Amino acid sequence: MGINKRIAVVSLLILSFLVMLPGLAREETKWIRNPDVVYVGTPYDVVSKMLQMADVKKKDVVYDLGCGDGRMVVLAAQKYGCRAVGYEIDPERVGASLDNVARNGVEKLVKIIQADIFTVDLRKATVIPLYLLPEMNRKLIPQIDKMKPGSRIVCHNYDLDGIIPDETVTIVSNEDNYSHTLWLYTTPLKRKQ
Ligand SMILES: C[S@@+](CC[C@H](N)C(=O)[O-])C[C@H]1O[C@@H](n2cnc3c(N)ncnc32)[C@H](O)[C@@H]1O
Repeated sequence: MGINKRIAVVSLLILSFLVMLPGLAREETKWIRNPDVVYVGTPYDVVSKMLQMADVKKKDVVYDLGCGDGRMVVLAAQKYGCRAVGYEIDPERVGASLDNVARNGVEKLVKIIQADIFTVDLRKATVIPLYLLPEMNRKLIPQIDKMKPGSRIVCHNYDLDGIIPDETVTIVSNEDNYSHTLWLYTTPLKRKQ
């Protein structure tokens, strides 16, 4: 092999290693099981409204269950300076969330954890913005019941079945021009009779 070819091969190996570095620095994410719902991001102006309805403060701890690309937890940390944790089952979305956190420099406030949301202990969270399917929301109620009194849950497009909301708001997003309905709940949850 000529000297030029050898240099080209070594350069390529170094380049490949550098490209792999960010992945190596992360905890390995594997396929746990199929997600219960596909990824659809909440438009940013709707995320802002959800956090505003929850009256997020610096001392809050925001959990996004099924965090997608991490937009809710990143925005919560950026806007309110609070801590936030994004839980996500899909390894590709976990990677996108980690990239989002790094891109926005909020690593000190935001954690991204690969997990099935139905196994997560919610007792340390004080605010949960939710964008999931109705049966998933219903399945989460026993976990939400364990949250501290005064914790807030804001649901996007699908409410918490059988629970009385404190507030219901419908907004039209500037991003997709669709109407989005949001429900605010406070713990302890108020059951419909
Ligand atoms: C509709 S998207 C919402 C994304 C983000 N919360 C937002 O509003 O922009 C739902 C997300 O939940 C994730 N997901 C589905 N089932 C899950 C499960 N059992 N545990 C954790 N994440 C799950 C999907 O991979 C997807 O990224």
